[in-house]
Amino acid sequence: ASPPLIDRFGRSIEYVRLSVTDRCDMKCTYCLPKSFKGYQEPKDWLTFDEIERVIGAFGRLGTSRVRLTGGEPLLRRNLPELAARISALPGIKDLSLSTNGTQLPKHAQALRAAGVTRLNISLDSLDRECVTQITGRDSIDDVMAGLDAAQEAGFSPIKLNMVVMPGVNEHEVEAMTEFCINRGFILRMIETMPMGSTGLASAYAPLGPIVDRLRARFDLIPEIKQMGGGPARYWRTKDGRGQIGVITPISQHFCETCNRVRMAVDGTIYLCLGQEEKVELRPLLRSGISDAELEQTLRDAIELKPEKHEFREAPTKIIRFMSQTGG
Ligand code: GTP
Ligand code: 5AD
Repeated sequence: ASPPLIDRFGRSIEYVRLSVTDRCDMKCTYCLPKSFKGYQEPKDWLTFDEIERVIGAFGRLGTSRVRLTGGEPLLRRNLPELAARISALPGIKDLSLSTNGTQLPKHAQALRAAGVTRLNISLDSLDRECVTQITGRDSIDDVMAGLDAAQEAGFSPIKLNMVVMPGVNEHEVEAMTEFCINRGFILRMIETMPMGSTGLASAYAPLGPIVDRLRARFDLIPEIKQMGGGPARYWRTKDGRGQIGVITPISQHFCETCNRVRMAVDGTIYLCLGQEEKVELRPLLRSGISDAELEQTLRDAIELKPEKHEFREAPTKIIRFMSQTGG
């Protein structure tokens, strides 16, 4: 096998976040403006064959983890077929999915059979009005049905992503923690990142003080073992029943341990969520590039990976929306 992908800052890149569509059946305030029109044309979407080829190349270069994202990934037709093809690729050991949950009753079983093991599901609130306000439609019943379907299909772990916004849902962190402990989900609280014109308006809540609040109330101790492939830090209840994680890109960034790159549905590789460096693979894939050239292109791309994002220093820098890269 080829040597692994190491960037200019000594970070080993072994995790690809793969956006399979930029469409979604929700319009969450921190992700996409209600009036958004700039979707990719279907002719510009990478086909399953093209995606398989790119992930195959990443696999030969040491990538072991792939996360399917969107938009809402389950809106891409036949996603379980793509999942099966990816999980069969040499080197890929961990295939996970981030979803809003609404399509899980339809697809959970097939995804599980296709080799997806870990699921992250967005749920910001337990209050119908609040969920409606954030997601742009009355979606809570659909998401709850999705949570049931995910558990019935045997996914483990299932994490719930909660973007914590002051004055919107911040007061619900205790209720969300309780809900997750009772249901066997891991709650993950996330600081809102400014992307496009979103994220700025829904200011972020620094999670340090919130964790202190939850630690006192739920008797939490730091989790020592590393969980998942991502940037979250975890705590668990002393009795082992519950776990919570925090993702703090703004108050305490984790760029020095970044292990990932992203590919958008049009085949653009983004080297950092909070920077513009990118490489467009689609023109190369559609003009007969060889496997060796593709691998070299990926190596060259990794050389462009920036040291860190600047969400704090330059909050208006990123003009693309979260929905383009799936977080
Ligand atoms: P696992 O740890 O493997 O479960 O995945 P994850 O937490 O990385 O994935 P998920 O899609 O659930 O993302 C949760 C949150 O973390 C989202 O808000 C993402 O935008 C954010 N996130 C994921 N990766 C990065 C990253 O590299 N940098 C920053 N700043 N945020 C990230
Ligand atoms: N800031 C932080 N997290 C975000 N997500 C979407 N947009 C943002 C943002 N602006 C999260 C959602 C979803 C995950 C993939 O990304 O919670 O679950």
